[in-house]
Amino acid sequence: MTNVLFVCLGNICRSPTAEGVMRKKLQQAGLSDTIKVDSCGTGSWHVGSSPDERTISMAEQYGYDLSELRARKLSANDYLRFDYILAMDTRNLADVIKTAPADFQGEIKLLLDFAPGDELEVPDPYFGGESGFLRVIQLIEAACDGFISQYQLNSSIDSPA
Ligand code: 4NP
Repeated sequence: MTNVLFVCLGNICRSPTAEGVMRKKLQQAGLSDTIKVDSCGTGSWHVGSSPDERTISMAEQYGYDLSELRARKLSANDYLRFDYILAMDTRNLADVIKTAPADFQGEIKLLLDFAPGDELEVPDPYFGGESGFLRVIQLIEAACDGFISQYQLNSSIDSPA
């Protein structure tokens, strides 16, 4: 079992989108029992809240249901549970690294390390318009596809037919 945690600032826009997108793509790839996903924020302002309405409605247009998700804050226990902690932007990445225990065994990376484009960050859409929410979905879909392809490639190398 591989456990993947997506991290943003508020856990109401980007990381819940990544959780919902990856969960559906894993189902489609037949990997739901192999890779588990979750999301959280580095901040606590929105703990307990549903994703932002603009996030829910953009995701719905792309076929992802985020309505059941609830925001939570990154905790010390997450470093024990997760193999990959994937941050949306460099500020989130720095915060995840700062609070990681020295003996953390997993990988802390930017989500877009798994995407084909040149962008490093999934930009925070919270204070912007609809185009920002669209960009979030597009970048996240590309990165999730990249993550799954890399996982499948590594599994086939680890256990050749
Ligand atoms: P997220 O977006 O980190 O993608 O969930 C944000 C949500 C809320 C705030 C900032 C970013 N906020 O300042 O409340």
